[in-house]
Amino acid sequence: MKAYPRILKYSLPYTGQMLLSVGCHLLYAFFSLFTFGLIVPFASILFGLTEAVTVRPELHLSADSLMDMLSYGITWLQQHYSLGIAILFVSLVFLTCALLSNFFRFMGLYFLNPVSLNATRDLRNELYNKLLTLPLSFYTTHRTGDLITRLNADMQEVNNAIKNSLLVFSREPFQIIVFFVALLMISPMLTLVSCIAFPLTAMLTAKISESVRRNSKKGQEQLSLINATYEEGISGLRVIRGYGATGFFIRRFHQMGLQFNRITNKVLLRIELSGILSEIISIASLCIVIFTGGYLLLRGSGHLTPNTLILFVILFAKLIAPVQTLIKNINYIEKFMVSVRRIFEVIDSEEVIVEKPDALPLKDFCHEIECRDITFGYEAGNRVLEHFSMTLTKGKVIAVVGASGSGKTTITNLLLRFYDVQEGTVLIDGHDIRDYVISDVRGLMGLVSQEVVLFHDTVYNNLCFGREFTLEQVREAARMANADEFVQALPQGYDTVIGDRGMTLSGGQRQRLSIARALLRDPQILLLDEATASLDSQSEHLVQQALDRMLAGRTALIIAHRLSTVQKADEIIVLDKGRIAERGTHSELYAREGLYHHWVKLQEMS
Ligand SMILES: Nc1ncnc2c1ncn2[C@@H]1O[C@H](COP(=O)(O)OP(=O)(O)O)[C@@H](O)[C@H]1O
Ligand SMILES: [Mg+2]
Repeated sequence: MKAYPRILKYSLPYTGQMLLSVGCHLLYAFFSLFTFGLIVPFASILFGLTEAVTVRPELHLSADSLMDMLSYGITWLQQHYSLGIAILFVSLVFLTCALLSNFFRFMGLYFLNPVSLNATRDLRNELYNKLLTLPLSFYTTHRTGDLITRLNADMQEVNNAIKNSLLVFSREPFQIIVFFVALLMISPMLTLVSCIAFPLTAMLTAKISESVRRNSKKGQEQLSLINATYEEGISGLRVIRGYGATGFFIRRFHQMGLQFNRITNKVLLRIELSGILSEIISIASLCIVIFTGGYLLLRGSGHLTPNTLILFVILFAKLIAPVQTLIKNINYIEKFMVSVRRIFEVIDSEEVIVEKPDALPLKDFCHEIECRDITFGYEAGNRVLEHFSMTLTKGKVIAVVGASGSGKTTITNLLLRFYDVQEGTVLIDGHDIRDYVISDVRGLMGLVSQEVVLFHDTVYNNLCFGREFTLEQVREAARMANADEFVQALPQGYDTVIGDRGMTLSGGQRQRLSIARALLRDPQILLLDEATASLDSQSEHLVQQALDRMLAGRTALIIAHRLSTVQKADEIIVLDKGRIAERGTHSELYAREGLYHHWVKLQEMS
């Protein structure tokens, strides 16, 4: 579906409010027509330029009839009271019309604002849901800053797009139509003349719109770049400072800001220009109208009187503003639509990992989890794992060792179904992993990896992580993870807010918190991916102790760098460039004097 009708569809649930807003805008148009349309007849009647109407006329729905009716009223007031009273009456009618027209203008927006805000919120929720379910592979091709820009700045533009569209479709067209019909009623001939410039306006608008669209796209991309640099600057602060690259990053950032301003300025100027051009064209049309009207008046043709000509000119002048606003808004919408398309781009990205409609629930893990002859690569043609097989029986521990880049983490990615295998199958209790409900599969497993993710929140919330646990349960898990002691020593204990990404804690402390988090959920299958790799030997000892406690009686896959930690495993698999080089228990492998033996010797030496 085209982006424009599609974004407008988001406002459909709020049709009621939309209609109210449209109604208010219609009334606004009528009252503003009255306010301005009454000036001339009133003035001419008051000052005796037209004949006084002394007999009550019959009321029809035509300009003449209405005018006669008003003339009659004013004449009556003049005759029965005084000219002063008649003028007072006229002023009050003006004031009332003006107040009413502005009241309805306000009410129009009063009903319209929630429509665009709610529609935007719905879209934002949809985008966020999508971002949390998209496959990890999506994030290897999109920068965080870019996605944040889409969630923030582009969303703001979506709100503007919806609001302006609804305005463009309700407020200005009514104004234009109402005034246009009034003009037609006064003089069809003059109205026709005044339309001469329309095609020129349309052409210019189309030309400018095209440029607005092109530059807005560049502008949003530049903004994404700025946000990405911003985000990377903050998350990589330690490295940037450590390498003395601050100056480089600052210069680059400033440069991007300049570029962004240049593009944005271009867009905004184009939009202003479109408004100004349409005004110039309208005023030129006005001159043509005055000229033609004057000519017709002098020749005495075209049923024109000085009064009707002046009224025509006033109403025509009043028509210029809504036309100008309409054209400007159309160009603004072009600008906003760039953002709308950027958001739909994310929402439409394909989900590589899809759940079957009749997916099986999986609450318990009974026998085994098996990788059967798996071949997998992140990109087509590139094989990270080849003919990999293993069977992890309930209650057993398998260790995978291998050089960096040999595909160890990839195995956990497949077990958690972050990716789907290309050949072979992953089976849980004999069923293909793809047959199960994805969240159930992930719910079985607890992952503790080298990269610890902590959020800017209290220790307690970081451990509970979206589920309900009592403080006693949390403390018990922390105690097992050797974390209770240092948490108690924090200023507010479990209620201490840990800084962004846990910056206020040491690597070992963060790792023990992540173990406590996994322990708290008591997963049936544990995946430990180099959980101790980045730690010094003192904290490694504490973490190792915690891990040993956690492993007792559990099914686990341990990926480890340090061979000492895997010796107790029921099976050790030695990976070499995605292929299984050796497998067996520690003593079997050691005795074989192959790759494993070689590594153990190397580590013993260091
Ligand atoms: N998200 C990814 N996209 C593309 N290639 C990847 C991705 N993650 C890992 N790789 C590649 O897959 C190979 C195996 O990676 P990994 O399983 O992380 O190794 P290990 O954990 O054994 O160090 C590496 O060559 C790595 O470059
Ligand atoms: Mg790894």
